[in-house]
Amino acid sequence: MNYNTCFHLLLALFIPCSVLCLAMTVRNLNSDQFALLEFKDRIAGPQNVLPNNWTVSTSVCNWIGVSCGILHKRVTALNLTSMNLRGTIPPHLGNLSFLLSLDLSSNHFYGHLPKELGQLHRLRILRLSYNRLNGEIPSWLWNIHRVRRLEMKNNNFIGTIPETLANMSNLEILNLGLNQLSGQVPSSIFKISSLKAISLCLMICVNVSTSSQA
Ligand SMILES: *[C@@H]1O[C@H](CO)[C@@H](O)[C@H](O)[C@H]1NC(C)=O
Ligand SMILES: *[C@@H]1O[C@H](CO)[C@@H](O)[C@H](O)[C@H]1NC(C)=O
Ligand SMILES: *[C@@H]1O[C@H](CO)[C@@H](O)[C@H](O)[C@H]1NC(C)=O
Ligand SMILES: *[C@@H]1O[C@H](CO)[C@@H](O)[C@H](O)[C@H]1NC(C)=O
Ligand SMILES: *[C@@H]1O[C@H](CO)[C@@H](O)[C@H](O)[C@H]1NC(C)=O
Repeated sequence: MNYNTCFHLLLALFIPCSVLCLAMTVRNLNSDQFALLEFKDRIAGPQNVLPNNWTVSTSVCNWIGVSCGILHKRVTALNLTSMNLRGTIPPHLGNLSFLLSLDLSSNHFYGHLPKELGQLHRLRILRLSYNRLNGEIPSWLWNIHRVRRLEMKNNNFIGTIPETLANMSNLEILNLGLNQLSGQVPSSIFKISSLKAISLCLMICVNVSTSSQA
């Protein structure tokens, strides 16, 4: 094999791999659109406005409930609160890598929180209250450690509150009330210095206001 064949062989191996690898990791407005379309496909409900509004004929930035950044044209907020939507949350939402705020509160979302949401490293606000989400409060939540508001009140979460929540060092508001949680509240959570308000209803309701320190 001469030098030329070897070089072409290397190219032949390298190009498909790099294209494939790029295709798997590149996140842009197209991957945001893909993630939201996957989400739309899982949503039903009598007043579901998404099928008529979330269409590829308009930019994802003009879709109802979707906001994009000014500098980077990427989806930065998804707010579908009180839209009477029913469905599960797909892992694809974890690809919205510029998302700062996710508000799905007051709908009929059910099922587990996909662990891919732990990839939303920029997220500041996560509001999922008043749905029918179930499973345990995931311990990977601490991965989204920039979150300031974590509101998951009035769902069907079970089990104990994971100790790792104490690693969400920017948390200001924590509301896990009105679920079916049990066990002890990890005392480390009360040591998060940014915390202003915490509401946890376990067997009894505990409201702790720490705002006097803030
Ligand atoms: C989708 O809804 C938004 C906000 O209500 C509206 O501005 C937009 O025109 C709608 N798009 C379509 C295609 O209906
Ligand atoms: C979502 O929109 C509602 C009004 O439609 C507003 O009250 C709420 O604060 C918004 N959520 C976020 C996280 O901005
Ligand atoms: C997005 O997420 C899904 C599931 O988590 C994955 O299959 C897909 O390849 C991801 N990437 C893009 C660019 O959409
Ligand atoms: C959470 O923080 C504690 C220290 O407060 C540390 O020991 C532990 O390894 C952290 N856990 C994770 C999952 O990062
Ligand atoms: C705890 O706070 C909730 C609002 O977040 C309020 O409705 C409830 O009455 C409070 N409970 C107590 C015991 O103060």
